Amino acid sequence: MAFDRSLRIAPSILAADFAALGAECEALEAGGADWVHIDVMDGHFVPNISFGPELCRALRKRIRGVMDVHLMIAPATPYIDAFVDAGADILTVHAEAEVHLHRLLETVKKAGVRVGMALNPATPVQRIQHVLDLLDLICVMSVNPGFGGQRFIESQFAKIEQVRALVGDRPIEIEIDGGITLANARRAVRAGGNVLVAGSAIFRGGAPERPEVYRDNMQALREAALA
Ligand code: DX5
Ligand code: ZN
Repeated sequence: MAFDRSLRIAPSILAADFAALGAECEALEAGGADWVHIDVMDGHFVPNISFGPELCRALRKRIRGVMDVHLMIAPATPYIDAFVDAGADILTVHAEAEVHLHRLLETVKKAGVRVGMALNPATPVQRIQHVLDLLDLICVMSVNPGFGGQRFIESQFAKIEQVRALVGDRPIEIEIDGGITLANARRAVRAGGNVLVAGSAIFRGGAPERPEVYRDNMQALREAALA
């Protein structure tokens, strides 16, 4: 399928009911989620602990579409095979988590999944310059990773524009992660983002037994982003 830069909504299950994750993923997809975004945290690279590969493996049976796995772990290299084996479609690693980043990106690519690279808010865009041809996705962190429900850091709009310019017509998704709301989605897309990760904005007021709330929240986000 040819690459297109159309808008994708990727709910982060960090904001889900952890006791009902399978049902949450099904409700998100029934409501029109393009991807399901899974935030993996190790309590070392980021000050919080969330999910591991076995949770991804279990959710793989409940996610029909794209499982987008965001690794906030250091080191990441020893765990790549486990997440590939668990069924990830996209594996995103952090630029700050590995000294030998080029080798890590190659390891992910050779494993046969799509390769993502995430940049923390303070990390310069130039980090992507010499590895662009290995990437399928660039994730611009618009909050400091570790927690949901934080405020979008304004300086990242300019960074998204710079990433967009560097990417040019390469088939690379530009994902924006953190603090996305109805109020800033349009700006994030205008700056060059095409994948919007959102936790709080999508889960607000919903539950697996009220999937229509997720549908409405995602629809509202899509409309706001394209308005
Ligand atoms: C932050 C995570 C994000 C976050 C998004 O470390 O990578 O995916 O959960 O949640 P909101 O939309 O609530 O900022
Ligand atoms: Zn994330």
